[in-house]
Amino acid sequence: MPRDPRHDILFEPIRIGPVVAKNRFYQVPHCNGMGHARPRSHAAMRGVKAEGGWAVVSTEEVEIHPSSDVSPYIEGRLWSDRDIPALALMTEAIHAHGALAAIEPVHAGMNAANLYSREVALAPSHIANPASYAPAQARAMTKADIRNFRRWHRDAALRARRAGFDIIYVYAAHSLSLPMHFLQSRHNHRTDEYGGSLENRVRLLRELIEDTKEAVGADCAVAVRFAVDEVRGEDGIRCTGEGREVVEMLAELPDLWDVNVSDWANDSKTSRFAPEGFQEDFVRFVKTVTTKPVVGVGRFTSPDTMVSQIRRGVLDLIGAARPSIADPFLPSKIDSGDIDDIRECIGCNVCVTGDHTMTPIRCTQNPTMGEEWRKGWHPETVPPRSGNDSFLIVGAGPTGLECARLLGRRGYAVAVAEASGQLGGRVTKEARLPGLAAWARVRDYRLHQLNKMGNVEIFRASHVTADLAMQFGAARIVLATGSTWRRDGVGRANTRPIPGFDREGAVFTPEDLMEGATPTGPVIVFDDDHYYLGAVLAEQLRAGGLAVMLVTPADRVSAWTVNTLEQHAIQRHLLELGIEVMTSRNVVDFDGARALLQCTYTERQFTAPAASIVTVTARLPNAELAHALLLAADGVARAGIVSVDSIGDCLAPSTIAAAVYAGHRYAREFDRPQHDAESFRRELPLESPG
Ligand SMILES: Cc1cc2nc3c(=O)[nH]c(=O)nc-3n(C[C@H](O)[C@H](O)[C@H](O)COP(=O)(O)O)c2cc1C
Ligand code: SF4
Repeated sequence: MPRDPRHDILFEPIRIGPVVAKNRFYQVPHCNGMGHARPRSHAAMRGVKAEGGWAVVSTEEVEIHPSSDVSPYIEGRLWSDRDIPALALMTEAIHAHGALAAIEPVHAGMNAANLYSREVALAPSHIANPASYAPAQARAMTKADIRNFRRWHRDAALRARRAGFDIIYVYAAHSLSLPMHFLQSRHNHRTDEYGGSLENRVRLLRELIEDTKEAVGADCAVAVRFAVDEVRGEDGIRCTGEGREVVEMLAELPDLWDVNVSDWANDSKTSRFAPEGFQEDFVRFVKTVTTKPVVGVGRFTSPDTMVSQIRRGVLDLIGAARPSIADPFLPSKIDSGDIDDIRECIGCNVCVTGDHTMTPIRCTQNPTMGEEWRKGWHPETVPPRSGNDSFLIVGAGPTGLECARLLGRRGYAVAVAEASGQLGGRVTKEARLPGLAAWARVRDYRLHQLNKMGNVEIFRASHVTADLAMQFGAARIVLATGSTWRRDGVGRANTRPIPGFDREGAVFTPEDLMEGATPTGPVIVFDDDHYYLGAVLAEQLRAGGLAVMLVTPADRVSAWTVNTLEQHAIQRHLLELGIEVMTSRNVVDFDGARALLQCTYTERQFTAPAASIVTVTARLPNAELAHALLLAADGVARAGIVSVDSIGDCLAPSTIAAAVYAGHRYAREFDRPQHDAESFRRELPLESPG
């Protein structure tokens, strides 16, 4: 399909100082849990982005000195010349596809715990890191420290050029780097020429830009990543105040402005809390005060929105972290006019969890993310079929749809049977809940692909029994029947059913609510799941006018969402909605009018009024068909069925990302020899690079 001429503007080359970006698609820095520890995996992942058409592909934060050691987080590292070969793997992979490679050298200042290097952390002033409860402080930098830091940064720029980078950042964003800490009056209490007036607080950032330009500016573009607004009112930098003044003061100094909001949670907002393009109001002034190209972000997946950003003079380059993770081939799909094939980011921030759990990045929409090197998976190409097997997939949730999509792409004959009348399983149901509409993209992308395939048939409202499965005639049966929320309260805190949870009509599961059940108030949502669903259901019940209390054994609401950067926003949202929040409390009994709550520390007990309970604790696999087929093993063999496999939530309930991954993995690997211990390649420290 030819490119839509309305999108031509996205493919104009843009000069950035001494280099030229071939189009306006710019993958901004994002960490990935691979970094310095897994350089081959990292290089392969970035190479796929370049292959997918991004004109610029950036690293993540790259530590420049042992006093900027953010271990156990795994970022890039450029402490010495010895780090150059690992980063050169990345620039080679990017250059192979005609893209520019950008690096973001970072000194994390007080945010560096230096747990590995055991150096003392550095800051503008004596200060405790506000983002951590660690019992350690950063020390105020002397003038000699500042000179040293400038030298480390300059050395890093020189090394980066040797590693092959084309664009070198000076980073003052997310409240995660020394130049930004110097800018912030709340962290900079100095009385010398680096503190006090904004002119003084901006001095270090100005010097770093000048140093970098002097060191590498003839060959490399110098970009500044700057948070123009901290979204924290008068206490922080604001785009109507110092944020704007900083850009005005330094307007023509860098070759590129990469502007966003701070902190990270505000910048990488989930779809639950912000729509596409949400940063526009903060950054739109930048192009009015500089002639240099401007890149900005905002979970951009729609080419029309991108074009509008450029035509209206908001941005010159379309920055993307998450959209490039969900679909590394987003630019080339727009280029070829295949807009409907874009795998749009759903804004769930599962990609961020890799950083927080110090493991390779993963993505709900793109199961190949992080698997490019270690499994050799590619987001757009699949191995052709290895035989003539036919498949019956039971269940059209995220696992079944992804499995069918990939088996179909491989050329197999596939039938998908879905018991209910609707496709998409849990994503279809959950997408109707407050703030989760974008979840439906998981279904929609896959259905669009499946509808184009002549070798995949989908049967709705088809309840498959063991007999039907055996009669169907497929060589392989894949069970992707999902899971069901427990009604008995068993979860993490309670390993036995909670007394009273068997009351008819007073205890509800998430599925009951998603299917339209209406509890009477006051209602207690008992969240022992700790991800998003408990809080989302509380919000829905509150919107229905009920008095709602959310009770959780954790010390905060939706505790696991710390990993998706949402926890603070979720708890704040619930409190603002008037939902009563009870943390560190277990539910131990329910009599239809009251629930008995127990403190998780003291075991002291309290009663709370509750006409209904919504229990969000754990799920059980829908394994009836699997059991029935197991019992009918002889019949299965007589029917010529080669394999019966349970995958996804019906094997062990988990995230939607894990469900999609399970479907993808089966379709890629069912015909590969199984490894006993290792199903992927590992990067071992004693292996020679290459
Ligand atoms: C997984 C992940 C890791 C990130 N790591 C970095 C980083 O290392 N350095 C940085 O400047 N920004 C980082 N960011 C922020 C992004 O660069 C970007 O500004 C933000 O996600 C908003 O853009 P988006 O809506 O296109 O994702 C990260 C974002 C994500 C999702
Ligand atoms: S994990 Fe979620 S937020 Fe991150 S890129 Fe994938 S779909 Fe988008």
